[in-house]
Amino acid sequence: MAAGRSQGQDSGEGAAAVVARDVTMDFGTGKPAVDAVSFRLEQGRFLTILGPSGSGKTTLLRMIAGFDRPTRGQIMVGGKPVDAAPPHRRSVGMVFQKLALFPHMTAAENVAFPLKMRRFNPAGIAGRVRQFLDLVKLDGYGDRRVNALSGGQQQRVAIARALVFEPELLLLDEPLAALDRKLREEMQLEFRRIQHELGVTTINVTHDQREALVVSDEIIVMDGGRIQQQARPVALYREPANTFVAGFLGVSTFLQGVAAEGA
Ligand SMILES: Nc1ncnc2c1ncn2[C@@H]1O[C@H](COP(=O)(O)OP(=O)(O)OP(=O)(O)O)[C@@H](O)[C@H]1O
Ligand SMILES: [Mg+2]
Repeated sequence: MAAGRSQGQDSGEGAAAVVARDVTMDFGTGKPAVDAVSFRLEQGRFLTILGPSGSGKTTLLRMIAGFDRPTRGQIMVGGKPVDAAPPHRRSVGMVFQKLALFPHMTAAENVAFPLKMRRFNPAGIAGRVRQFLDLVKLDGYGDRRVNALSGGQQQRVAIARALVFEPELLLLDEPLAALDRKLREEMQLEFRRIQHELGVTTINVTHDQREALVVSDEIIVMDGGRIQQQARPVALYREPANTFVAGFLGVSTFLQGVAAEGA
């Protein structure tokens, strides 16, 4: 099933899935939206970028996707600079908050779209579409128009569409934010299940601390465009690097200053 790899990669064994070096995005507003961010993400891992509104999460994700070019610094995906290939050839699947599905097309047509863009063998498309609709538990819904599906079902179509060409990297920018809590929690676990099943490296953006702690292999906490901490969920929770991380995660028992007897 490796046909979806868009290029013969020379990434080789051991290349990190994503490497960001000193990545800065300055929109000229006086303060960079993303400020000297460096991190490394190994293949097959599920990373969450967690931070409050305006902390630079979407800006960082858009640069990883290759939509925007950093003012400074470099991003490598699969061992290659992210802008080495044109967008439709990049091996990156994306699901955003606004799903950008084609509402008048059927679920199956939506999922087939990236395969057509990538000139997959037409004979194989229907079977592959069915396989990925199965994966997101939408078997039997292929002929349904997207605007006749529920919100959660539409999310699943978007996931299938992002994954059907087997990207090296899956980017999720708060795709669940519009859903009610119960459905959101179900879908969070779905993402995790599918990610495990396919082994695709995933970067998930959220400002939901609970989601981050439940679904991630590792978490990057951002504030003011800067990485405050990168760690596994348990380490983050047990040993927050600073008062921002502790406060944002709701670790309520951190102590500050020096205890003074009788104070
Ligand atoms: N095109 C732009 N031009 C100027 N400033 C921008 C632009 N895009 C984003 N910003 C600013 O950059 C900062 C980071 O924005 P970004 O969208 O990355 O935040 P975020 O962490 O995704 O927030 P949210 O959780 O609200 O989605 C904000 O201060 C925002 O106003
Ligand atoms: Mg955002």
